[in-house]
Amino acid sequence: MRSPPRPRREGAGDGDETMQTRIRRATAADCEAIATVHVVGWRESYRGLMPDSVLDAQSIPERARRWRHIMDTTPATVLVAEVGTALVGFASSGARRGDAFPHDGELQAIYVLRTAQGAGIGSALLRRSAAALREQKFDALALWVLRANFNARQFYHRHGGRMVAERTEDVRGHQLAEIAYGWADLAELAKDAAPVA
Ligand SMILES: CC(C)(COP(=O)(O)OP(=O)(O)OC[C@H]1O[C@@H](n2cnc3c(N)ncnc32)[C@H](O)[C@@H]1OP(=O)(O)O)[C@@H](O)C(=O)NCCC(=O)NCCS
Repeated sequence: MRSPPRPRREGAGDGDETMQTRIRRATAADCEAIATVHVVGWRESYRGLMPDSVLDAQSIPERARRWRHIMDTTPATVLVAEVGTALVGFASSGARRGDAFPHDGELQAIYVLRTAQGAGIGSALLRRSAAALREQKFDALALWVLRANFNARQFYHRHGGRMVAERTEDVRGHQLAEIAYGWADLAELAKDAAPVA
């Protein structure tokens, strides 16, 4: 896959519009690109944390089909981040699945391609997902992360998330330990979010 241009920090703005990061709501036309970021994101981030067989079995067409189904049949909010015309990240949020934590909202996925990480895109996706949940009258947010995914855990901790639950998930027959991070006050997390296009 061709590397997207290196993003500038959100809002830095120097007149070079094609290099700006833009966050907007996803449309059905984005499913293939979201699936690509999802599968590449898994392979970039989870090598060594999950069995290779699980990572190698990931398929972009199958993921795209699942994203189309999610967007057709659920009220999930899916946001995408673009640098120029390249989709480099996405986040999906909505009502919590299960009752392992008391938070009513859940961030179901957040991925930024490695080439675009460290530029504020993940932070913007997290804050704007929180703002979108607030608009839908949710009060709180939590998410599941692999216990061994220390980079993401540090990211959530720096954003004020606190460990609120743990579980073991069966992923294609492999038992993976996960931790939930929660934000009891969605307003605090959403307070610096710019409006979504
Ligand atoms: C976790 C993830 C979403 C964060 O996205 P990101 O775009 O890298 O996030 P940001 O750039 O907003 O912040 C990342 C870090 O870079 C720092 N940073 C951001 N912009 C910076 C800049 N201009 N200069 C220096 N540091 C910067 C932030 O302080 C942050 O540090 P921290 O993680 O120690 O808090 C991303 O790394 C990712 O997709 N990881 C792989 C997939 C994954 O694990 N997803 C989570 C599944 S639960």
